[in-house]
Amino acid sequence: MELMEVIKGRRSIRKYKADPVPDDTLQKLFEGVRWAPSWANTQCWEVVVVRDPNMKSTLANTLTKTNPSLSSMTEAPLIIVLCGKKGVSGFKKGEAATVKGDWLMFDSGIAMQTLCLTAHSLGLGTVVVGLFDHKKAEEVLGVPQDREVVAITPLGYPAAEGVAPKRKEVSEFVFQERYGKKAE
Ligand SMILES: Cc1cc2nc3c(=O)[nH]c(=O)nc-3n(C[C@H](O)[C@H](O)[C@H](O)COP(=O)(O)O)c2cc1C
Repeated sequence: MELMEVIKGRRSIRKYKADPVPDDTLQKLFEGVRWAPSWANTQCWEVVVVRDPNMKSTLANTLTKTNPSLSSMTEAPLIIVLCGKKGVSGFKKGEAATVKGDWLMFDSGIAMQTLCLTAHSLGLGTVVVGLFDHKKAEEVLGVPQDREVVAITPLGYPAAEGVAPKRKEVSEFVFQERYGKKAE
């Protein structure tokens, strides 16, 4: 697939087939993630692959009942939980190098988008899930104190296409030379 086709064609998928994801496909997916950029190449991300139906249900229970991705958590053949190592991205000799502090969320976001795009190019569906009880998820998964759970995505073959929500026009978010100055 051509890159723009992958970028524009990726949708949040909330309906999944039960078909398993072959191991070699999963390896290709993580190979994509491996090449994501990160602060000073710190690569703070880690992923937990969850296939066990009981664990999937337990993780689904960390979502609010109104989360539109609730049923995807148990429907998809597997769930990927993206974690980040704290205190490395954005740090120099143990000190935060910028006012932003830890860049963990930023690097994890890039890793997750790389995962979602790679998944789409492999015919797989994803949906980034951020609205859940992170502390509970960390407890359930046994995530150590120096790591945190950032986001989750169900992963599997789409059972239904997603509908593309409307996007802002480019002219609404691109300024010229100074903030707020639009192109003439
Ligand atoms: C950081 C983040 C958190 C999100 N959390 C949720 C979520 O908890 N539940 C959900 O159904 N979708 C969630 N989404 C998916 C967005 O709703 C979706 O990306 C957006 O509506 C655009 O649709 P598209 O992905 O099909 O282009 C999240 C997306 C991002 C980037």
